Amino acid sequence: MKFFVDTADLEEIRDLAASGLLDGVTTNPSLVAKTGQDFFEVVKEICKIVDGPVSAEVTATDHETMVKEGRKLAQLAKNIAVKVPLTKDGLRACRQLRDDGTMVNVTLCFSAAQAILAAKAGASFVSPFVGRLDDIGEDGMGLIDDICRIYEQYEHFETEVLVASIRHPIHVIEAAKMGAHVATVPPKVLRQLFQHPLTDKGLAAFLADWQKTGQSIL
Ligand code: E4P
Repeated sequence: MKFFVDTADLEEIRDLAASGLLDGVTTNPSLVAKTGQDFFEVVKEICKIVDGPVSAEVTATDHETMVKEGRKLAQLAKNIAVKVPLTKDGLRACRQLRDDGTMVNVTLCFSAAQAILAAKAGASFVSPFVGRLDDIGEDGMGLIDDICRIYEQYEHFETEVLVASIRHPIHVIEAAKMGAHVATVPPKVLRQLFQHPLTDKGLAAFLADWQKTGQSIL
């Protein structure tokens, strides 16, 4: 399973990339707005920090302008994945950008039917938003299960399921059990994955006992 971090905050990305466990980054217009920085500069910098796919989203809504924006974004770095919304125009733009050889992440997916269309449009990634479905009383992880099962039926579907809008570690664990290819995780949740109180307690006890021996490894 691949881990992407869901942020445009350069410091967070640098810090998490240093763990060696980061496979990519997803941004969206809201995350970029939060940084208060120039979109192109932020995206170029992220692409230097992380070798894997970096999603940068178009903001046009008609397919022609989406393709123009997508082509401009794709020129920023080799690892750009152009993010387009799951609309009719977005999927048309997806097909054209894929024909150019550009990675495309189809975002704002909220149903299995939409995910089938994304795969048929040749998307590199489809991003179903689990947290936002949970927020309105729907079953976010149920959607991931459906999409994973559907994609498994068709060998020619090359689209990776990128679980988005993750709110807590259980979302990540459930996504892994279902065989989702990627989880894009907010920095806070990614850090939570490392933690367990018994790890801290166990380590403190080991170190206290080791100190009593008066020895050192180096
Ligand atoms: C990722 O690609 C999405 O933009 C993101 O996960 C949305 O998450 P949110 O629902 O927490 O805004």
